Amino acid sequence: MNYKQQIAKAVSNALNNKVSAKDILSKIEYPKTDKNGDLSFPCFVLAKVFHKNPKEIADNLVKKIDHTGFDKIEAVGPYLNFFFDRKQFSEDVLNNILKDGSHYGDNNIGKGRNVVIDMSSPNIAKPISMGHLRSTVIGNSIAQIMMKSGFKTIKDNHLGDWGTQFGKLITAYLKWGNKEAVEKDPINKLVKYYVHFHRVDKQHPELDDEARAWFKKLESGNKEAMDLWKWFRHVSLISFHKTYEKLGVKFDTHHGESFYRNMLPGVVKFLKQKGLLHKSQGAQVVDLSKYHLNPALILKSDGATLYITRDIACAIWRDRNYHPAMNIYVTGGEQIYYFKQLKAVLNEMGLPKNVHHVPFGLITENGKKLSTRSGRIILLNKVLDDAVRLAKKQIQEKNPTLPNKDEVAREVGVGAIIFGDLKNNRMDSINFNLKQQLQFEGETGPYVMYCRVRAESILRKAGKIDLKNADKDVKDPEAWNIIKSLNAFPKIVREAGKEFEPSDVAKYALHLSKDFNQYYAHSRILKKDPQLGARLSLVKSVSIVLKESMRLLGVKAPNRM
Ligand code: ARG
Repeated sequence: MNYKQQIAKAVSNALNNKVSAKDILSKIEYPKTDKNGDLSFPCFVLAKVFHKNPKEIADNLVKKIDHTGFDKIEAVGPYLNFFFDRKQFSEDVLNNILKDGSHYGDNNIGKGRNVVIDMSSPNIAKPISMGHLRSTVIGNSIAQIMMKSGFKTIKDNHLGDWGTQFGKLITAYLKWGNKEAVEKDPINKLVKYYVHFHRVDKQHPELDDEARAWFKKLESGNKEAMDLWKWFRHVSLISFHKTYEKLGVKFDTHHGESFYRNMLPGVVKFLKQKGLLHKSQGAQVVDLSKYHLNPALILKSDGATLYITRDIACAIWRDRNYHPAMNIYVTGGEQIYYFKQLKAVLNEMGLPKNVHHVPFGLITENGKKLSTRSGRIILLNKVLDDAVRLAKKQIQEKNPTLPNKDEVAREVGVGAIIFGDLKNNRMDSINFNLKQQLQFEGETGPYVMYCRVRAESILRKAGKIDLKNADKDVKDPEAWNIIKSLNAFPKIVREAGKEFEPSDVAKYALHLSKDFNQYYAHSRILKKDPQLGARLSLVKSVSIVLKESMRLLGVKAPNRM
C-alpha cells in the first residue's frame, strides 16, 4: 500500500481539491523521530493558497481529514503527523513477504527489454586487478538488480585482447619467452616479458618497429601472429576464470575487443562516408570541439586501430544484435572523459543514445593509489584466498562443530570482500582493509550474514509453525522499525536500479540487520504466548529480505556459520 499517495489524496479531499494530490505528494516527509509519526505533511505550501498561517491550517485539516488507515493523525505546529494503522500495516507487509518469498520487491520497469552490462573486462596477459574486481562485482550486482526489475541482462566481459600491445607482447615472447614457463604460470610470465620490453625499448627503438609490424600482421590475420595471440588469450582466460569462479560471477559473453576486429574497416568507412574523419598529423580523428572535447583518435598514422575504434564497432554490434534499452559500461572513473568522447562520436554517427557509463572510484591502500608501476598492486586471487583463510579461522573459533566449515568459509570470506566493496557509494574511493571487511561486527558482510544466521537459528528452534495463518500484528515496540524497513525494500530495489547504485542495497541490508539485532536483544522471540506466530513471521521476513538483499549484491548468505 502506498501511504504517501493515500495521505496526498486525503489532504487534497479535505481541502475540497483546491490543491491537487500531486502537489501535496511531493511535500510529504519522513519525520526525524517516531514521536512525530510515520509520515508528515508540512502545511507551509498551503499558507500562500489560503492566506492563513500554516499552524491554523494544520489544526483545521486534522478535524476534516479522513482517518482511515491511520492509528492517529496529529497537528503539531505547522505539521500534520500521520501514524499508520500498525496492525493493518504489519499484516500487509509481512503477508506480502511470506507470500512472495524471494520475489518480494520484484518490479517490471524493464518489461523484458534487454540491457547489456559491459563489466570486469581485464586485459589479457596481465593480472586481474582490484580495479577489475570493482567492475566485476558492481557490474554483477547491477545485473541482479536489473533482472529483479524485469530486464533481460547480457553480461559481457569486454576483454582487452586486441591492440598494439599484442605486437609488443609477441615481439617480447619471441625474443625472451619460454613456452613451458608460460604454461606453468601464464599471466606472471607474460606480464614479465611485456614489462621487460618496455625496459629495453628505450635503448632499442627498433623493437617498437618490430612490435608495430607484428600488430599489423595480427590485424591482417597472419597465422603465426594469430596462433600466438590465441594462445595468450586462452591461457589468460583460464586464469581469469579461476578468479570468477571464486567470486561466483558468470558472464553471458566474453567477446573482448578482438571480436570486433573484422568490423573495424567498416567503421572507418562509415565514419568517412559521414564526413566525420579528418587527417591530423598523419592520423585519422573525429573532431569533437562542438562537445568541448578533444578529438577522438580513430586510426594511428600507421593505420592501426585503437580502443575507441573497437568500442564504436562494439556499440554498433550490440545495438543491432540486442536492441538494448541500455548499454551499460562499468569502469573506473579515469575513463569518464573517454566515454564522453565515445558517446559524442556515436552521437555524430546518428546511433541511438543508449550508452550509459557507470564509473567508480579508486581502491587505495593506506590512502595511496594502487598501480602496477608503483609496485603497489593487490592481486585479487591472493586477496580472495586470504579472505577465505581468515574466515575459516573465525568460524573455527565461533562454531567449531559446524560440519561444512570450508564451504561456509568460502561464502563468508568472498562475501566479505564483495560486500566491503559494494557498501561504498560507487564513486567513493575505497581504502582496502581485509581484516576490517572480515569482522563480524561493524558495517561488514559477515555482520549481515551473522544476523541472518541468528534469524535462521530462531526459526529452526521454533520448529514447524504455520506462519501463513499466524497473526502478524507484532506488538513489540522494536518491531515497528523493522516492519517499516521491510516495507521499504521494493523502493530500494527500484532506486538502486535507477541509479546503478548497489550500495543502496548494501546500506539497506546493514540498516535492517542493525534493527533486527536490536529486536533480538530486547525481545523474547520464542516465548510461548499468543504473539509467537507474529514474532516468527517477522523473523522469517527479515531472513527472506536479508537473503534477497545479499543475492542482489552477489553474496551468498549461509544458514549457519
Ligand atoms: N579493458 C579495459 C580496462 O582494463 C576496460 C574495458 C571497458 N569496456 C569498454 N567497452 N571499453 O581498462
